[in-house]
Amino acid sequence: MIAIAPSLLAADFLRLGEEVRAAEAAGADRLHLDIMDGRFVPNISFGPEVVAAVRRATALPLEAHLMIEEPDRYVQAFVEAGATTVQVHVENTPHLHRTVELIKGLGARAGVVLNPATPAEAAGEILLEVDMVLAMTVNPGYGGQRFITATLGKIRRLATLIAAHHPACELEVDGGIDPDTAPLAVAAGARVLVAGTSVFRAPGGIAAGLAALARAAGRAADPAP
Ligand code: DX5
Ligand code: ZN
Repeated sequence: MIAIAPSLLAADFLRLGEEVRAAEAAGADRLHLDIMDGRFVPNISFGPEVVAAVRRATALPLEAHLMIEEPDRYVQAFVEAGATTVQVHVENTPHLHRTVELIKGLGARAGVVLNPATPAEAAGEILLEVDMVLAMTVNPGYGGQRFITATLGKIRRLATLIAAHHPACELEVDGGIDPDTAPLAVAAGARVLVAGTSVFRAPGGIAAGLAALARAAGRAADPAP
C-alpha cells in the first residue's frame, strides 16, 4: 500500500484551511509540513503556529519536516503544535540518536532525512530507532524542483537495508514526485510519497492531482466518503 503525503508548501496559504480539507477529502493519507529557517536551506517557510492551525483543520497525521539548524531546540514546539511525526536531517544533527530519543520521548514518531548527496549508510546506525527514513529526491529548500533520478539507487539501497533490519520502518521520498516519477520511486522501494506541486497545483485541482498520483503509484484512489 502506497501512502501519499501532500506537502502544504505548494498550497494557497491564503486559503490554507480549505486546501487542507480538500486534500483530506480527496484521500490524502497524511500531510507534510516543510519547516525552513533560511539557514539550513535558503528559503523560509512557516513555524509551529501554522502547524497548530493546520492541526485544528484536519484529523490527518501531520509530519513536520525540519529543515532548520539546531532542530533539537524546536522539536517540542512542533510536537505541542500537533505534529505526529518529526523528521530531522542527518546532515545537521550531530547527536542524532539523542534527537530521535527526544522526539520519541515526546510521544511523536521519529523520522530521519537524507539529502541527495548523503549515502544510504548514513541512516544505518539509527535505523532500528526510527519510524521512517525520508530520502530527498531534490535538494531541500524549494517546491517545484525536478526529481533527481540519480537518487533511485540510494532508494533501492535504503529499501534493502530496511527490509533486512527494520521492516516496520517506512521509506518516504520527497521532491519532484508526480505521475511520471512516482512509479520510479515506488519501483525502487518507496512506500510514502510526498507531493506538493503535483497535488496542490494540479491543473485539474487537488482531487484530480491526488488521484492521478495514486493511479500512477499503483494504488487505487481512496477518497473519503
Ligand atoms: C523541499 C520540500 C518538499 C517540497 C516538495 O525542500 O522538502 O517537501 O515541498 O515539493 P514538490 O512536490 O513541488 O517538489
Ligand atoms: Zn519536505
